Amino acid sequence: MQLKSIKEVKHLFGQRILVRVDFNVPVKKGVVVDNFKIQSSLPTIKFLLHSGARVILVSHLGRPLSKEKKFSLLPVALELKKLIGTKVVFDKLENRDDWEGEKLVLLENIRFYKGEESNNLKFAKQLSQLADIFVLDGFAVSHRNSASVSGVSKFLPSYAGFLLSSEVEGLSKVVLNPKQPMVLMLGGLKTETKLLILKNLLPKTNNVLLSGEMFNTFLWAKGHEVGNSVINKIFKNVVLKLLKNRKIIMPIDVVVGTDKGKNTRVVLLDKKLILKKDEGIFDIGPKTVLLFAKYLKSAKTLVWNGAMGRFEQSPYHHGTYALVNLFASRSKGKAFGVCGGGETLEILRHLNLLNDVDLVSTGGGAMLEFLSGKKLPGLTNLLKK
Ligand code: 3PG
Repeated sequence: MQLKSIKEVKHLFGQRILVRVDFNVPVKKGVVVDNFKIQSSLPTIKFLLHSGARVILVSHLGRPLSKEKKFSLLPVALELKKLIGTKVVFDKLENRDDWEGEKLVLLENIRFYKGEESNNLKFAKQLSQLADIFVLDGFAVSHRNSASVSGVSKFLPSYAGFLLSSEVEGLSKVVLNPKQPMVLMLGGLKTETKLLILKNLLPKTNNVLLSGEMFNTFLWAKGHEVGNSVINKIFKNVVLKLLKNRKIIMPIDVVVGTDKGKNTRVVLLDKKLILKKDEGIFDIGPKTVLLFAKYLKSAKTLVWNGAMGRFEQSPYHHGTYALVNLFASRSKGKAFGVCGGGETLEILRHLNLLNDVDLVSTGGGAMLEFLSGKKLPGLTNLLKK
């Protein structure tokens, strides 16, 4: 997949560029607590500014139902100013007369406007009238059919920013032409999205290392007493059928206990598991770590999504941390390592491994949709003909 890049625009000097970024970042007590997404779009913003263009940034924050103060992008404007070191004008769309001519503007939360999520054509046109060129940089929002993502590109010459290009390039390698062998490590919740990824990628994948909700559901479907482990009963038959596939490698031992981390023990899965009602499966066991490690070490492409266990609760973090350390150490060299999503970022940051992976996608939902082979509406008008 080839996207038109902002590098191809000949004359940026003096042009007004509307840049859709994804600054949907965690904010606590009016302060940005994780600026990874803001940092990731800095190369695009700086490039445009250095080329003499005027930049109008558009983003959403959260899922506001009305113009609630807690969803204001003001904390993001302050964080951006700190990171970029130049003046950032923060204002509402309707005040355009006040900020016209400014070098760098961040508009208030675009989801405060009715036409955004419904992709209202009139609203998209109104947005397009702010600029001469449209740039989509927020890969994390490219799966949304919204006015500021897919709508505005109908009215303006449209290009991909550096972040979007690099994420699409990296993920395309996995979807279209992965270096073999490819190994997927899938854990966490959301069986429905993992099933879509498997449907698309299993034919190109050598092995899938599975943990989390889907694996628990499989054990439960096989008659194990899984206590309060997270399962998804709706997918009982699908999981039973799918997990017969020999490419899928499942844990051979697990760590069980209460959800508060009491009464923990390692249990081998060679006989029927019998857990009390207040106990669950919360991590993979040490034998599984060794087993999964063997596959990770053999791979040339590695894709990871979802924790192996409840890593937030000690002592259930060991399995996830051990394998993520290995995943990162194989990346950028022995294998092409790709991962993404909120939980993934949290784990990498905690282990100080954010810079050790080839591609840490800023997209959660967008990455999963891309890996599932879906068309992302934000990319349609950016494709090279
Ligand atoms: C994300 O954080 O995944 C993106 O910002 C998209 O947010 P949304 O799911 O609210 O559209």
